[in-house]
Amino acid sequence: MGRMGVTLAIIGAAATCAIAAHLVAKRVRQRANWSRALAIYHDFRDGCATPLHRLRQVVDAMVVEMHAGLALEGGSKLKMLLSYVDNLPTGEENGLFYALDLGGTNFRVLRVQLAGTEGRILQQEYEEVSIPQALMVGSNEELFDFIVAELASFITREGEGFHPLLGRQRELGFTFSFPVKQTSIDSGNLLKWTKGFAIKETEYARIEPQEVQRSFKCCTSTSWNRRALLCHVVGKDVVEELQAAMGRHKLDMRVTALVNDTVGTLAGGRYWNEDVMVAVILGTGSNACYVERADAIPKWRGVLPKSGSTVINMEWGSFWSSHLPRTPVDDTLDADSLNPGDQGFEKLISGMYLGDIVRRILLKMAEEAALFGNTVPSNLFIPFILRTPDVSAMHADESADLKEVTRVLRVVFKTQASLRVRKIVVDVCDTVAGRAARLVAAGVVGILKKIGRDTVGNIDMARLKNNLAGKGRKTVVAMDGGLYEHYPKFRTYLNDTAVELLGKEAAEQVAVELSKDGSGIGAALLAASHSQYSSD
Ligand code: BGC
Repeated sequence: MGRMGVTLAIIGAAATCAIAAHLVAKRVRQRANWSRALAIYHDFRDGCATPLHRLRQVVDAMVVEMHAGLALEGGSKLKMLLSYVDNLPTGEENGLFYALDLGGTNFRVLRVQLAGTEGRILQQEYEEVSIPQALMVGSNEELFDFIVAELASFITREGEGFHPLLGRQRELGFTFSFPVKQTSIDSGNLLKWTKGFAIKETEYARIEPQEVQRSFKCCTSTSWNRRALLCHVVGKDVVEELQAAMGRHKLDMRVTALVNDTVGTLAGGRYWNEDVMVAVILGTGSNACYVERADAIPKWRGVLPKSGSTVINMEWGSFWSSHLPRTPVDDTLDADSLNPGDQGFEKLISGMYLGDIVRRILLKMAEEAALFGNTVPSNLFIPFILRTPDVSAMHADESADLKEVTRVLRVVFKTQASLRVRKIVVDVCDTVAGRAARLVAAGVVGILKKIGRDTVGNIDMARLKNNLAGKGRKTVVAMDGGLYEHYPKFRTYLNDTAVELLGKEAAEQVAVELSKDGSGIGAALLAASHSQYSSD
């Protein structure tokens, strides 16, 4: 080999070495990144852990807070609001009743023709209406005028099979899915916004019971301004507002019941099943209500109801306990939210937030451990871009190559990832949904414990003498909301954890049942049982 040949060989060897060194360095970097990604995930998973002993602490904390919230106004973060529903549907309701279900950009109007215990629901019809953007920033009068105009037009289409009684006003149940401090079954004032709404702190702080007639303005973030419409009514009596709009439209109708969606669900569930004692909503937001003994409510003022019991709207979204398993990701989600420091439980368990918790941890892994390569996919920075249905779809993916995960990553984050990364994405979904479902189970068991339905044979027979207490054969929890209905793994975790907490035998006395869209019908039924024409 000549000198030239030797030189070329040396250059070639050097290049090979350089390439090899580069590859080794890359491999080392990838390994380091992967270990870092795993470490971030493991830290997060450990922070989310819900071993049984911890869940039992959550159960007990829930019971303690329930007592505190019932003891006095503001006694706990759990509001334990009085619903003034001290009669639940019995099946004997008769006649034509309406409901209006309002909780976001859409509202639903419905009518039912009830025919007592034999005929039950003879006929029902409903319509869903979306509220035009322009009205969301208009005045409250405009908003209620729009709703009432739609309602009035719905009434004109009252077809065969619906029979209003001559000389009687039509009656309506109003489902309003936000925390309302009720002053009676047909009046109440919005306390605060949840599920992505916010009102100015300074003004919110001034809402006192004696100031409820004041009108407060509020603000929302642009990403959630679809919810802005309801800001108009903060601090006002929502029924008065609706009733006034009916007056302006010469609509001869009376709101006889104002109910939270949980209370509507409880009433709707009870209509078909006498053992329904608790209702839980697991959707965009989350909340629970249950039947409580009136004499177990120290903050109750005035005459106790004849039935001896009443329904309590817990507003459990604001439940707080140091035993809740929280991570730094939850802290930043809370800090960035429109209501920091508020709705702590809701932010761990409800459909509005689960997707964003997953997004946040993936973003951390992308930024600190190049999970999706050297550049972080820009969509990962967009709050709430990953929705809980996407989380459910990825979590349910059982294909060998995780096709659904590939699809969601491509569609939502405009990125792709190796199989091992896709697997870790599924693990993150599992951690987030698992924690949420197990906490919901702990919350439900907390309620059962409070009312003495958590152990075998623990049902207090004295409670059974009244209409509200059910028959006591079983305790049924009526569940509604997309998270429960459309997220099978979440449902399984929830049910399994309830059994773990209650023990097999006691769990046999409890049933969790889907009560789909029960809140609208429930409100109509409550309008019936609180009718101005009923003899009671
Ligand atoms: C609201 C509750 C409501 C729940 C479910 C929560 O954010 O505060 O009033 O029942 O969402 O819609």
